Amino acid sequence: MTGVRHLYAHLPFCSSRCGYCAFVVETGGLDRRDAYLDAVIAELDAQEQKLGELDTVYLGGGTPSLMRARRIGRLLESIHPGLAADAEVSMEINPETVDHAALRAFRAAGVTRASIGVQSFQPHLLAALDRGASAEQARAAVECAQDAGFESVSIDLLFGVPGQTPADLEADIAVVRELSPEHVSWYELEIKPGTALERIGTLPPDEDASAEAYRRVVDVLEDAGYRWYETANFARPGFECRHSLGYWHAHDYLGIGVGAVSTVEGRRWRNASGVDAYVAAAGQPSQTNEDLDEDLRRRERWMLALRLEEPIDIARLGEPDHPENFDLLRTHGLLDDEPLALSREGRFVQNSVLHRLMEYA
Ligand SMILES: C[S@@+](CC[C@H](N)C(=O)[O-])C[C@H]1O[C@@H](n2cnc3c(N)ncnc32)[C@H](O)[C@@H]1O
Ligand code: SF4
Repeated sequence: MTGVRHLYAHLPFCSSRCGYCAFVVETGGLDRRDAYLDAVIAELDAQEQKLGELDTVYLGGGTPSLMRARRIGRLLESIHPGLAADAEVSMEINPETVDHAALRAFRAAGVTRASIGVQSFQPHLLAALDRGASAEQARAAVECAQDAGFESVSIDLLFGVPGQTPADLEADIAVVRELSPEHVSWYELEIKPGTALERIGTLPPDEDASAEAYRRVVDVLEDAGYRWYETANFARPGFECRHSLGYWHAHDYLGIGVGAVSTVEGRRWRNASGVDAYVAAAGQPSQTNEDLDEDLRRRERWMLALRLEEPIDIARLGEPDHPENFDLLRTHGLLDDEPLALSREGRFVQNSVLHRLMEYA
């Protein structure tokens, strides 16, 4: 084996929990950041023999930018001996936690790709989501990041937010076009169990309205020169997120930190989620383990592959459960031939196409 080429580190600290967030997050407790970092570096050392030359590193959260550049620098130094010369190093950034100097410091510490959690530029939607940043802070963070010398700046946005009108969506589209980042992730908001939005009884958005918003986002971003390379991800050519592509191509990855998931050589494990227990475990966190059999992996490969704007490579994915449905999908204009791939229309109903081809329990 050549070793794992993708590393994820989970940095869970946040000032407060946003109304829609179901991630592994630790609110407050910033005085434990150094101890947490020690434990992350200890876990990395313990897992080092699994790593090959790293093509990508992703620092996610939580709010990694709350770790400040000094700690991010320490973490990246410990990773550095294993990094490829042109490695992509992404970090999630919350707008209210940074200014010009902080962003330059993250860049100097080795972050190459800034992923800024904007969600919306409309004040009433930021309020509905319990976000910590104002619309002005969101815009300023993107502009400062563009000025700070990152190889790529990405912004995260949402549609399907309670109270979001078509005019709100157009207003966000206008700001994105103006700021013109290299990469945009534009997700449909999911009302997840256990979140504040769910507790107050927020209903999922109307399906037709959501489908319309999604089509509008895709049309506008393609028109602006972005490649719709994954269900919710758009990039100027050459600026696709290599780390995420690693997941979607079903490559092995190592995840370190609380709640982090790893998939290596047919085994998947997930670290437990409490920060105190993680720190106490000093690099040997408690984990749940799963052996992935070839059939499960084949189902995952198909599910991930159909998200991408790429030919369907049956030799890599394995035979689908229902190859007899290829003809039906062609007849409905959802599949193209030579190369075999989802049509543009097929990509809008990717999940239905998947379920025509594969059985999921
Ligand atoms: C790991 S999260 C959070 C990163 C960062 N702490 C922030 O809040 O911006 C990365 C992205 O996932 C998206 N996301 C989070 N929760 C979501 C949800 N319930 N539904 C859809 N997208 C969600 C958001 O766009 C978010 O920026
Ligand atoms: S800042 Fe990001 S990770 Fe933290 S609670 Fe909000 S959405 Fe979740």
